[in-house]
Amino acid sequence: MENYRQTFSEINLDHLLHNWSHVTQLAGTDRFVCPMVKANAYGHGAFEVASCLEKEGAKYFGVCLIEEGLALRESGFKSELLVYGGFDKQGAEKILEYQMTPVISTWEQLKFIESQADSPVKVHIKFETGMNRLGFDRSEAEKVSEYFKKSKNLKLKAVLTHLACSDDAAADSGMSVSQLNVLAEIKSFFKPFDIFAHALNSGGILSLSEAPESSILKKERWGFRPGLMLYGYQPAGMKSAGLKPVMTFKSVVQIQRSVPAGATVSYGATWKAKRDSQIGVIPAGYADGIKRQLSNSGEVTIGGVSAPIIGIVCMDFFMVDLTEVILKTGKENWQNEEVLLFGEKSSGGFVSADEWANQTNSISWEILTSVSSRVPRHYLGNAFSIIKD
Ligand SMILES: Cc1ncc(COP(=O)(O)O)c(C=O)c1O
Repeated sequence: MENYRQTFSEINLDHLLHNWSHVTQLAGTDRFVCPMVKANAYGHGAFEVASCLEKEGAKYFGVCLIEEGLALRESGFKSELLVYGGFDKQGAEKILEYQMTPVISTWEQLKFIESQADSPVKVHIKFETGMNRLGFDRSEAEKVSEYFKKSKNLKLKAVLTHLACSDDAAADSGMSVSQLNVLAEIKSFFKPFDIFAHALNSGGILSLSEAPESSILKKERWGFRPGLMLYGYQPAGMKSAGLKPVMTFKSVVQIQRSVPAGATVSYGATWKAKRDSQIGVIPAGYADGIKRQLSNSGEVTIGGVSAPIIGIVCMDFFMVDLTEVILKTGKENWQNEEVLLFGEKSSGGFVSADEWANQTNSISWEILTSVSSRVPRHYLGNAFSIIKD
């Protein structure tokens, strides 16, 4: 579809590859590594991201929904796709029809897949170890193992769990260590099988460089399921790993207008000019992923200078005060000039999506995945020329 918008996000696939190489260095050889491309690859474009990583040797890819897997298959993506989010009977049919790998969390799901599998099907089994979300209870490990010894068509490839506090994984007394101990115990029931055990999301992976050699985190070669770190971010408070943000979200000053002291801006008239002001109208709103909580509190960057968001963020627009930008740069007219919402600055360096996360009591995962489907993605980087062909 043609687009006429000047609000868009640039996706730098070379930065994705930089972050991926960090993952593969930490992984070493023979470790299960499954980049997570669910939620449209955290807003970056599942097909482009998955194709790029596939060219770089990734073998497994994680989606949450069957629909996400189907969209990838329909775009021609052939590599192994793991469906993490669960499924019912009809979903099981689709998973098998489109040759995806089910991540199974209940006996019911196991039976749906078994009853429909007429040739060997790879499966991964999820166990609950502390997150209290998805997975078999740990007490069922032996029974599940016995089931697979007898199953005709189901081929067990891995057991897995999900860490609730992955950024504590380097600490001996943390919750992650206790979850990994449980997973190690669960795995011991599956000795006859040659399987992976995967558990590490970005926080867990990034903890590896901090953990002592004696830690359970290092003693087992836990499989990786990196999400956030691929896209250049890491859990708040962790030591910087030099990752590069992949997404730059940009817009433009569509209209510059003068407002006299005392005039108000946007719905509810919550912002009132204390002085004669220059304001900019930016064509991006909460329907694009500009959180409404940024109203009267967030900032964007214009001409290298921070410009405060003024008034309530609307569905399609928000407004900024340009007065400081004009004072600091000496440039009067900002109409049609670029507005950096977050990402790479043209002068070098980054404005982190974490800033909006902090200003909205949110997290970078949510800020990235909130950039909506009506925001066009422009792909950049040498890596893009490789996947285009
Ligand atoms: C099952 C599972 N594994 C891995 C991940 C990736 O986590 P992160 O983005 O923190 O790396 C997620 C994300 O929510 C997940 O649900």
